Amino acid sequence: MAARETVDILSGLDALPDEMSQALATLKRLPGSLENRLGTALSEDLPLNKRDGGFVRLGFEPQLDDTRALRDESRRVIASMQARYCELAETKQLKVKHNNFLGYFVEVSQVHGEKLLKAPFNETFIHRQTMADAMRFSTTELNEIEAKIASAADRALAFELAIFDDLAGAALAATDELKAASDALATMDVAASLAEVAVMRDWVRPIIDESVAFQIEGGRHPVVEAALRTRGQAFVANDCQLADNAGATAQIAVITGPNMAGKSTYLRQNALIVVLAQMGAYVPARTARMGIVDRLFSRVGAADDLARGRSTFMVEMVETAAILNQATPRSLVILDEIGRGTATFDGLSIAWATVEHLHEANKSRALFATHFHELTKLSGKLARLINLTVRVTEWNGDVVFLHEVVQGAADRSYGIQVAKLAGLPAAVVERARTLLAELEAGERSAPVEKMMDDLPLFASVMQATAKAGHGAGSAKDELRAELDAIDPDDMSPRDALEALYALKKRRTLET
Ligand SMILES: Nc1ncnc2c1ncn2[C@@H]1O[C@H](COP(=O)(O)OP(=O)(O)O)[C@@H](O)[C@H]1O
Ligand SMILES: [Mg+2]
Repeated sequence: MAARETVDILSGLDALPDEMSQALATLKRLPGSLENRLGTALSEDLPLNKRDGGFVRLGFEPQLDDTRALRDESRRVIASMQARYCELAETKQLKVKHNNFLGYFVEVSQVHGEKLLKAPFNETFIHRQTMADAMRFSTTELNEIEAKIASAADRALAFELAIFDDLAGAALAATDELKAASDALATMDVAASLAEVAVMRDWVRPIIDESVAFQIEGGRHPVVEAALRTRGQAFVANDCQLADNAGATAQIAVITGPNMAGKSTYLRQNALIVVLAQMGAYVPARTARMGIVDRLFSRVGAADDLARGRSTFMVEMVETAAILNQATPRSLVILDEIGRGTATFDGLSIAWATVEHLHEANKSRALFATHFHELTKLSGKLARLINLTVRVTEWNGDVVFLHEVVQGAADRSYGIQVAKLAGLPAAVVERARTLLAELEAGERSAPVEKMMDDLPLFASVMQATAKAGHGAGSAKDELRAELDAIDPDDMSPRDALEALYALKKRRTLET
């Protein structure tokens, strides 16, 4: 039916996109005979189960209609019998009922039942059951009718099932056409739904090219936006400007900002825009231009796989490893707070090294949300790294979220303010403030300065790794330096021999 209506609607249009006109052609190939047959055979209201019967339309099969009439007629006969039995038993309180155990039976009150046990009533009523306040009787007549109804119902159902098999056979014979038609309908459904969403939600047609650009203006998260709208709130649209066509101006964005500011939302909306764009949909943005993304990698959320023996942190690392081993300069990577499932310095180190690797080795476009504010310092060392932050303001000691992504780095995480908003007891919030002040005054910043100094070494190790596959460069250099320091002309034969042994020994220790 849906197919027929769709054909009618679409046939009236002159210009259809190729995909749609192909789908339309497929729908037209559906055999009309099958549609007619199903239409005439089946009732308007169909039962859930074929064994309930009642799905064949009245008038489709005369024999079926006769059997149904017999069945329904017998039911009316039962109703008239109840009236007759009431007279016979001299009571108005008699009912003919049915259950699976007794079939059809007569039920009267206990008091009246005593009377029916005696002559002349017991010629008609055969006692079957005594209940707390009722007695049940059967009659020969009821038993006969019961059998008749049952067999008429059985025969009607058998008829219906035979018709069903017949229709099923006809449908099976048209399997290929039906499959093709449902594919065509699915194609139309997807296209029509995406078009509808694009119009209703104000989406835009993305430009996709061969560059490695990623330039989204006024991007939105389709689901969060819709959820906010139902509450009468507006979603704050945000740009995302990574590498542009002219050259790689920015390739990785490190996004810091308070809890609840909208970092995760920002990461996901940009990933979703890629998915939507590359599946052929319009996207929730004001404008969007991107170079084809070969793979989209995401590491978000805290999942574990305890059943398979993987902790939350292990899962996080396995996923991060997959990204670092596979992402290419054409990929888009979103990383949401990696390194949180372990001790702070562990986590910071891993996050740090991951950013470096993405920048130097993978060279992928990446959005990296983090609470490790130390990472923002990397923009001083890594040329294609930019810092983004999500704006908030403070009002009477509480944090107010603006959800606006801007250039820059957050100075702190406002975790305690968010905890307060969430309703942590005042005493806990106060205690946390005190502890934070102590911790911040302490060691946190010191090691980072050192790591900044270490960075050149990091970089050289990485280059060596990239070239040789193994990091044995520095040991070789020391040997070389020692060799250089030896001047054979200035040595006695004995010294020379000792030096040779010493070098040989070092070499053995190293390998
Ligand atoms: N751009 C936005 N406009 C409006 N509300 C937003 C926006 N981004 C996020 N939010 C709201 O803030 C909440 C927290 O966002 P989330 O991305 O989880 O923050 P974060 O990852 O920084 O902790 C979201 O559930 C959403 O309700
Ligand atoms: Mg988040």
